[in-house]
Amino acid sequence: MRVMVIGNGSREHAIAWKLRASPRVTEIFAAPGNAGTAQLGVNIDVQPTDVDGLLAAARKHAIDLTVVGPEMSLEAGVVDRFEAEGLRIVGPTQAAARIESSKSFAKRLMERHGVPTSRAEVFSSYGEAREYVSLASAPIVIKADGLAAGKGVRVCASTEEALEALRESMEDRVFGDAGRRVLVEECLIGQEISVFTFTDGVHLSPLMAACDYKRIGDGDLGLNTGGMGSYSPPLVWNAELEAQVMSEVMAPIVRALAEEGCPFRGVLYGGLMLTADGPKVIEFNARLGDPETQAVLPRMETDLLDVFEAIVDGTVDRTPIAWSPKAGVGVVVASGGYPEAYTTGYPVSGMDDVDEGVAVFHAGTSTSNDGGVVTAGGRVLTVSAIGETLEEARSRAYENAARISFEGAYYRRDIAALAPAASGR
Ligand code: AMP
Ligand code: GLY
Repeated sequence: MRVMVIGNGSREHAIAWKLRASPRVTEIFAAPGNAGTAQLGVNIDVQPTDVDGLLAAARKHAIDLTVVGPEMSLEAGVVDRFEAEGLRIVGPTQAAARIESSKSFAKRLMERHGVPTSRAEVFSSYGEAREYVSLASAPIVIKADGLAAGKGVRVCASTEEALEALRESMEDRVFGDAGRRVLVEECLIGQEISVFTFTDGVHLSPLMAACDYKRIGDGDLGLNTGGMGSYSPPLVWNAELEAQVMSEVMAPIVRALAEEGCPFRGVLYGGLMLTADGPKVIEFNARLGDPETQAVLPRMETDLLDVFEAIVDGTVDRTPIAWSPKAGVGVVVASGGYPEAYTTGYPVSGMDDVDEGVAVFHAGTSTSNDGGVVTAGGRVLTVSAIGETLEEARSRAYENAARISFEGAYYRRDIAALAPAASGR
């Protein structure tokens, strides 16, 4: 089979890498891909939101199955268009992807179907939002309704900060139209985990879980990023918690989307807070997580192509997915200065000097004229390792990350370091 992966991050390189291991995959294409996907197959120069371009590429290269990485492609309606043209594609339709692309849609759906989540009010009027926030007690969470590249959420310690966040979103429009409408939410306290299921809209696979590190600095300090590392499974994750999350959160929301006329086929990602009152939903995403994928897929023993085909064919109930009991850790190596201004174009060395069984998944990289790899983005790559224990996976990931270098390379030192005081994970 000829398979095309849409996207250009480390997540997409990991998906392409896992698919490349399938005996049934003959050729891999990535749109637009990065220097890592170029080593596995062919990069196609088309952007993830260019639906016409993606459709043309699928035809031109006789693609048998397309896999969508990023949410922006889902929001652009790539799945609807491919399905309308009779092409096989893995991911939810635009309507089903509203579970991620509209936080108010997701919140109302959860409320209607009794899925535990933070209390929230939705505002389109700046005046009404201000009035409500002035009377609410901090901490308060202010969230842009639409997609804001992971930057649309502010957890505010004071009313003043919440009012400022409202102004930035609703008046200054720092997130464009995505922040015209906002949610004002109760702040949840607890450990955060990311939970994934592969679903064909009716059946759900058993759940897989991971932890994500969003802040730039050790000890969860500093600015939010696209994700600086991940490990899987979380130490709190066990059969009892899985059963509870399945029956209270994941199965009801898949049923709810089907009942409301937009069945969800793809990977459903629940961002959960494990509160004193049980797991509550922070948000849903309509795809695999980045960087969670880089810690999770190395643990998958089943052919990923089988899993993706089961989603499209409606046979998830007949497709068992085997996971290694080993731990997975992914450490993101970023450009110095990220998530603020940074410089690109630096040669990357040492990427071939990694141990057997350690994977280096590219993100912001490109191939230079002399065939070498140079930095081309904020998050440059993820070093992923597995181990018998979390500690073993962690030390392997860090030993190997230390062999890779480029000017200004930065990574957190505390990914999967579980000193309780350090992160609460
Ligand atoms: P998001 O960009 O939606 O993934 O949100 C970014 C982060 O904000 C989440 O990972 C949480 O750590 C935090 N967050 C969002 N909503 C809440 C909430 N209601 N209570 C506490 N933390 C939240
Ligand atoms: N790991 C966060 C995300 O993929 O949205």
